Amino acid sequence: MRRILFLIAGIGLSLTQHAQQKNFSTKDHGFVHSASKQYEWPTDPKVLKKLDEWQDRKFGIMFHWGVYSVPGISESWALCSEDKFTARRKRIRPGTTYGDFKKWYWGLADSFNPTKFEPSEWASIMKDAGFKYLIFTTKHHDGFCMFDSKYTDYNIAKGPYKDGKYSNVAYHLFDAFRQEGFMIGAYFSKPDWHCEDYWDPYLSTPTRNPNYDIKKYPEKWAKYQQYTANQIDELMSNYGSIDILWLDGGWVRKPQQSIKLDEIVDNARKKQPGLIVADRTVPGRNENYQTPELTIPKTQLNHPWESCITISNSWGWNPKPKLKSAAWVINTLAEVTAKGGCLALNVGPTGEGVIEEEVIKCLKTIGAWLKKNGTAIYATRPTPNYHSGNVWFTANKDKKTLYAIYTLPEGEDLPSTIEWEGNEPTGKMTLLQNGARVKYTCENGKVTVTLPKDLKKEALAFSFKVKQQ
Ligand code: GLC
Repeated sequence: MRRILFLIAGIGLSLTQHAQQKNFSTKDHGFVHSASKQYEWPTDPKVLKKLDEWQDRKFGIMFHWGVYSVPGISESWALCSEDKFTARRKRIRPGTTYGDFKKWYWGLADSFNPTKFEPSEWASIMKDAGFKYLIFTTKHHDGFCMFDSKYTDYNIAKGPYKDGKYSNVAYHLFDAFRQEGFMIGAYFSKPDWHCEDYWDPYLSTPTRNPNYDIKKYPEKWAKYQQYTANQIDELMSNYGSIDILWLDGGWVRKPQQSIKLDEIVDNARKKQPGLIVADRTVPGRNENYQTPELTIPKTQLNHPWESCITISNSWGWNPKPKLKSAAWVINTLAEVTAKGGCLALNVGPTGEGVIEEEVIKCLKTIGAWLKKNGTAIYATRPTPNYHSGNVWFTANKDKKTLYAIYTLPEGEDLPSTIEWEGNEPTGKMTLLQNGARVKYTCENGKVTVTLPKDLKKEALAFSFKVKQQ
């Protein structure tokens, strides 16, 4: 009987997981969180307004930067003793015991001294690359704060960088990016493995969860709630205007691990009116946009969402990065935009505070493309017929002009003609790359565009008015 019950429960679980995931296609790098399909529209008009503004921005730069950037290992996870992460730990420091590993990892803070960090340089590189908003890891699961929190000394302004020019890193980073017109997002991990009210150091830490029974020790858990509330309040009070609070660690949620987030968010919005909150993978009032990770939804979605995708093969910096190409990023941005989302592209700066040349080179190519073709991306809205073969469509907000983006497959040459079904143009069609008028024909719902000779080998965007049906 018990076996049958287990079996039924198992089938139930895998069906739910399947239902949650079927809207998202999975790319094959890294591990994946899927976002759920349920979405609750915010009711606060200020939040709605900010969301709309954020949806105009389309392209965000995300940084994962913390103690893990010093040796170039994966962020936080090797600290966790769940099966799949112990293998990772063994790769990082073979032959060490768990206790030794943790000591080594926490101790990385003692050699984190990013003397080459220049926030305004980062901001100008990212502006040139066409990014319009920022998401920065103020604290990852390992609990190390990239801001000068008065509630813990485990922070960047207390270690070797304490006398550094920008020792309160998050403050200076936000400030520099704000000056370049970026919207500002604070990534903040709800779980904190360094805090003794989350992981009690006197007990073993077999999973990502608190390692004590929070029902049995409610005062201890209340302290954790307070610690979290205090730190978020610091970020909301002392760091200028913040647009997005990006909360990671979706397992910290009601009812099992309530941190009284509703209260935290209400307080945060008193200081930051209209704040967008992305309580990842927790459908409801605090997930103002969804965040499929390393994936793109299979279809267009008509609520706010953002894919977060790494430019290399890890979130933090690693010594042997496998970079995606600029063409891959541009094609992905076109697809994400046509499906109604935003793209947060993640870059991992080095422990010294450097964004590597190879990365900058790739970003420059993206930026150059966006300078010419950005009107097909920024401030557009999705259009119902959004896809035909390699062509993705977006619409001007007034819905009168459509954009067709031909995503040239990597390594291929441009064809002499491009075809798509539907979205029949009327009048003049312009190629954004050089502003030239291009010739096209329409026949039985099929549009054929003749490409001028000698075009640059890259994704092409066209603008045109659509024939009213
Ligand atoms: C996941 C991981 C985390 C990473 C984040 C970025 O939630 O837990 O390590 O920071 O994705 O999207």
